[in-house]
Amino acid sequence: MDPQTATLTRAPDDSGAPAHARDFGVQDRVVVITGGGQGIGRELSRQFAAAGAIVAIADLNLAAARSVEGEIVAAGGRGLALQVDVADKASVDAMAQAILDAYGRIDVLVNNAAIFATLNKRPFDQIPLGEWEQVMRVNITGVFLTSCAVVPAMRQAGWGRIINISSDAVNKGVPNYLHYVTSKSALIGMTNSMARELGPHGITVNCIRPGGVATEVERTHNPTEEIRASLLTQQCLPRGQMPEDLVGIVMFFATPAAGFITGQTIAADGGMTHNH
Ligand SMILES: NC(=O)c1ccc[n+]([C@@H]2O[C@H](COP(=O)([O-])OP(=O)(O)OC[C@H]3O[C@@H](n4cnc5c(N)ncnc54)[C@H](O)[C@@H]3O)[C@@H](O)[C@H]2O)c1
Repeated sequence: MDPQTATLTRAPDDSGAPAHARDFGVQDRVVVITGGGQGIGRELSRQFAAAGAIVAIADLNLAAARSVEGEIVAAGGRGLALQVDVADKASVDAMAQAILDAYGRIDVLVNNAAIFATLNKRPFDQIPLGEWEQVMRVNITGVFLTSCAVVPAMRQAGWGRIINISSDAVNKGVPNYLHYVTSKSALIGMTNSMARELGPHGITVNCIRPGGVATEVERTHNPTEEIRASLLTQQCLPRGQMPEDLVGIVMFFATPAAGFITGQTIAADGGMTHNH
């Protein structure tokens, strides 16, 4: 049966609404979080696990992924640390296979890994070509490769969720950051087009644009206190953004309740930017 129809014809609950409409859960979902070893990915991994999901923490930095796995297991959750280079097809395919071997399913992919904290800001005409190409390779091609690797299992299940992490830098047009902003812009187009191809298979694809999120990680391009204070005045909610501010929207997109929302990009940035 068509996966969408199957969901819609599920027996109504007491409220008269189909059960999926009020299912905000991720319990027992197999969730892959790329770049899950630190920063935003670490917080997403911990919170998905706390909500009952089985989390594959997939990161280039295996020690960091293992540390997050340790945090999850110590808290009574289920996590699996995996080393992956999202820019390398063989590595990504091996990651997907390892998850399928372990759990038999991949329900949710959060495309969070990127070259970000280590990136230097500089005028665009001074970005070395190699650095430009590396950012495109990881931040764009990485999302393509991971999506290609998980989609066969999602298609077979007739259910899946892909959630891409872009940036509000796209809408702000941040200077001296052209490779990063360009790469994060691409994710919005990829989200729109992939959503159209995958909708008939019961798979949604959505995108989130975080603002400047303070994480436990030191960055090469941290803003000065003065710039930070001035940025806060541009937000509707004038306080600093934390990784946990992204948990609600990412988790929502992963739930059955969000099943009729796809091809959307939403800013979670305290109202710094708006969609037009
Ligand atoms: N922190 C922010 O202010 C902010 C704002 C907007 C968007 N974002 C986006 O959110 C995501 C997470 O941000 P963050 O601050 O946690 O970033 P971060 O740089 O601290 O962490 C990125 C993670 O990705 C991993 N990674 C890098 N290259 C990889 C590769 N080739 N294969 C697998 N893993 C790889 C790193 O090891 C690291 O664990 C990124 O996509 C970033 O662009 C962050």
